[in-house]
Amino acid sequence: MTRITMVQGDITEQQVDVVVNAANSSLLGGGGVDGAIHRKGGPAILADCRRLRDSHYGRGLDAGRAVVTTAGRLPARWVVHTVGPVYYPDLYEERAELLSSCYRESLRLAAELGARSVAFPAISTGVYRWPMEDAARIALTAVTEAVADPSVVAGTAPAEVRFVLFGADAFEVFDRVRQELGRPGAR
Ligand code: APR
Repeated sequence: MTRITMVQGDITEQQVDVVVNAANSSLLGGGGVDGAIHRKGGPAILADCRRLRDSHYGRGLDAGRAVVTTAGRLPARWVVHTVGPVYYPDLYEERAELLSSCYRESLRLAAELGARSVAFPAISTGVYRWPMEDAARIALTAVTEAVADPSVVAGTAPAEVRFVLFGADAFEVFDRVRQELGRPGAR
């Protein structure tokens, strides 16, 4: 049974097996969470990303997909990089499915790695402008469904999935949505 928890804090300080990065399709770094992870994790992460670009991901990583690298100097074992969709109301359904896929595919990879704990940021809610409340609903729903789906986690669901919210506002929104959805979970 996977515990879904939430904390307010910095994802680069989380002592977990997998830290999930809100990357962009280049996989070569950026601002926000991406910038923080590369800054704190050090050059080994970017070196792994470049190797991925030079091998299987020449055109970059599509939105909704996930890849794994070392965590470098972070207090984690791996970084799973996923590319969120940019919020665009006219393509809401398609983009919302891509956002769900970020969580599902990251958990699929984490389960393949045997990760016992996975930390997620609020994917797409910064530069990619997804409204926090809707992103929280998509995230909590996708994670709850994925950890209960053997075709995703193949019987090795992590013991903990931790949402790491960067600021009180984001935490309050996620916590409220979690209560509205009626999902248990430690604060
Ligand atoms: N820890 C946890 N959450 C963080 C941190 C951090 N250190 N830094 C930022 N955040 C939060 C933001 O406040 C936001 O709520 O992560 C959420 C996602 O914001 P972004 O990092 O901007 O990611 P996203 O909206 O998915 O946009 C991705 O931004 O940084 C670039 O290279 C990245 O091009 C990509 C795009």
